[in-house]
Amino acid sequence: MPEPKRLFIETLGCAMNVRDSEHMIAELNQKEHYILTQDLSQADLILINTCSVREKPVAKLFSEIGVFNKKKKPSAKIGVCGCTASHLGEEIIRRAPSVDFVLGARNVSKITEVIGVKHAVEVETDYDESTYAFGEYRSSPFKAMVNISIGCDKGCTFCIVPATRGEEISIPSDLIVQEITKAVGTGAKEVMLLGQNVNNYGRRFGAHNEEINFTGLLQKVSKIEGLERIRFTSPHPLHMDDAFLEEFAANPKICKQIHVPLQSGSTPLLKAMKRGYTQENFLNRCAKIRALCPEATISTDIIVGFPGESDADFEETMKVLEQVRFEQLFSFKYSPRPLTEAAHYEAQVDPEIASARLSRLQAHHTEILDEIMGAQLGKIHAVYFDELKPHGRIAGRSDDGKLVFVEGSEALLGEIVDVRITKSSRGALDGEVI
Ligand code: 5AD
Ligand code: SF4
Repeated sequence: MPEPKRLFIETLGCAMNVRDSEHMIAELNQKEHYILTQDLSQADLILINTCSVREKPVAKLFSEIGVFNKKKKPSAKIGVCGCTASHLGEEIIRRAPSVDFVLGARNVSKITEVIGVKHAVEVETDYDESTYAFGEYRSSPFKAMVNISIGCDKGCTFCIVPATRGEEISIPSDLIVQEITKAVGTGAKEVMLLGQNVNNYGRRFGAHNEEINFTGLLQKVSKIEGLERIRFTSPHPLHMDDAFLEEFAANPKICKQIHVPLQSGSTPLLKAMKRGYTQENFLNRCAKIRALCPEATISTDIIVGFPGESDADFEETMKVLEQVRFEQLFSFKYSPRPLTEAAHYEAQVDPEIASARLSRLQAHHTEILDEIMGAQLGKIHAVYFDELKPHGRIAGRSDDGKLVFVEGSEALLGEIVDVRITKSSRGALDGEVI
C-alpha cells in the first residue's frame, strides 16, 4: 500500500464555507485518496478556505501563509480557496508566490482539477455547479449540512458576498432530497439547509428548472422518513411571507429557531443598506413569528457604524433589540469592503464611536440573554445529543437551538431525549434526563 496523501484544511467564515470544505474533503478523498490530518507538518496539501466578509480575516491570510510555509513539508502544496480567493484571484499568487493555486467559492467542484496545475486560478463567479453531485463527507454523523442554493442576488451595499459567490442559483429539489436521504441513511436525524438567502429558494435554477419555493421545499424535505429536525440558515426578513411563517410554525419537523437578520433598526439606514424593508416591516415579521409560534427563539445580525449612522439611528437599533429581545445576537462593527457600494459612501463613522456603540449594544443584549436563560430553570426541552464531553458529560441542542449538557454516556449519542433544566448560564444549560 502506498503512503496515503494527507490533507490539512483550515476553514474560516460561515456555515457555507464549512460545507464547501466538506465537499472538497470528499472530492479529494474519493478521487485522489487524500486523508485528513490535523498536523500541518505532515500534510501534502494545505487548503485555507477563506472568508472576506470583514477586513480582518483577509489581512490574516497573508501572515498565515508565511507561518504555514515555515511549518510545512517542502513538497507540500498550498491552495487558497473561498471568498477571498474569489475576490483577490491571482493577486494572491503575486503577493504570495508560494501559493500553488487559487480556487474561488463558486468553483469548489474543480478542486481535484486545480491541485495538479501550478498557479491555477479558478475564480469565475458565474460558474454553475448547482447540479454537481459532490462526494460524501460529513464532519458529524448526526447532523447533515446540505446546500439548497449558491450565490446571492441581493445587493446589500455593505456586503461583498454577491461579488465572491455570484448570482443566486437554486439546487434542484430532487438532488437536495437525495442528499438528505443519504445522510439520514447513515444516522443523521437533523439537516441544516444552507444558502445565502434560503427563503428566496426557487427564484432561479441553472440548466434544470422547476416550480417550487422555499415553503414547498420545506414541505418536500419534511416528508423524508427518519428525518426528525430541519434547520435552515440564513433567511432574509424581506422574503418571510405569511405562508412561510405558517409552515415554520405548524410543521413539527422544523426546529423553532429562526434567524432574522436586522442589520440596523433605522429605516433610513436600512434604505442606504438596500435591505428592502423598514423597521416597521421587520417588527411586523417578528410579531407574526411570536404570534404563530411563541416558543420560537429569534436570532439576528446587527452592524453598527454603517456610513451615516447617527446617534438617533443607533437608538433605533437599540429600540428594536429591546422590543424583539433576540436570543442570539451576532454583532459587528462595519468594515468597508472592496467591490461594495457603501465603501464609497461619505460620512464613514469614527471607529471609536462605532466601538462604543458596539459595546453598548452587546452589554444590553447580555442583560436580555441573562433574563432569557434564567427563565429556563425547570423547563423541559427535547435535546438531540451529538457530542461527548469530558467528565462523563454529553452535549446536544434543544429544538429551539440551546446548548444543553447532561451527565450521560455514549448511549445517548444520536438520541432525542427530554431533559429538565436544572442550571442556567449565559451560554448553555445543564439538565437531567427525565
Ligand atoms: N461589515 C461588517 N459586517 C458585515 N456583515 C456583512 N458585511 C459586513 C461588513 N462589510 C455581517 C452582516 C451579515 C453577517 C454575515 O456579516 O451582519 O449578516
Ligand atoms: Fe464569509 Fe460571506 Fe463568504 Fe461566508 S459567504 S465565507 S460569510 S464572505
